[in-house]
Amino acid sequence: MTTTSKFAVIIGSGFESLAGEGPGRRVATRFGDTSAPVHTVAIEACPVLSLARHGDDHSIPPHAINYRANLAALKELGADSVIALNTVGVVSTIRESGEIAVPDQLLDYTWGREHTIFDGADGVVEHIDFTEPFSADLRAQLLAAASAAGLDCHDGGVYAATQGPRLETAAEVDRLERDGADYVGMTAMPEAAVALELGLRYACLALIVNRAAGRGDTPIHEDVESSTLSARTQAMSVLRQFFKLAR
Ligand code: HPA
Repeated sequence: MTTTSKFAVIIGSGFESLAGEGPGRRVATRFGDTSAPVHTVAIEACPVLSLARHGDDHSIPPHAINYRANLAALKELGADSVIALNTVGVVSTIRESGEIAVPDQLLDYTWGREHTIFDGADGVVEHIDFTEPFSADLRAQLLAAASAAGLDCHDGGVYAATQGPRLETAAEVDRLERDGADYVGMTAMPEAAVALELGLRYACLALIVNRAAGRGDTPIHEDVESSTLSARTQAMSVLRQFFKLAR
């Protein structure tokens, strides 16, 4: 899979090894500032742009992230492909806490976020085809990397994006399941849509860190505590294998 693509990873908490050192690059975009400076990190000797979605000190909640600036900056720095690491809870019985997945569909329950680059500010309006919200190629590459790393990574599933920062009620999770959701998280929207508007390939590598509200026997935060390391370790192995194959 040797490629000429230029990759970026958008990271959440717990991926300090991908956060990069030094001041990084601040990029001013027409949408404002990014969550954090953009770093270039080496993953298996591949140079990869890295951006901490919640800021370097994890102080930006999901609804306050400047998704448009983050993606516009990555594009301006030359990225054409974005791998997003997103933690999720699992709604259906598709998977368990501590596992990883590459979702293939989205439901959007977020509100009040700056969710499009086609906001009328520059007189350009486009209605992107969002039938397939994630890049099929990039998803396939992630799944191939997971398989090469010997990992059982779930292929597909519906990611429901909620507003947060609070977690859901049990009834809300029941509704998500009736709507067809398999996972619930707070950050893949509007990130995925803005990425596509900007012409970037975008796929989500989901870290399942808990059973969603009302679904498990364990309190959610205990579930997160005991499941995160396993999901994170597997996600790191996928990335390493991905960039081994890509370089
Ligand atoms: N709900 C929403 N977002 C999440 C969850 C959850 O249960 N777990 C991790 N991110």
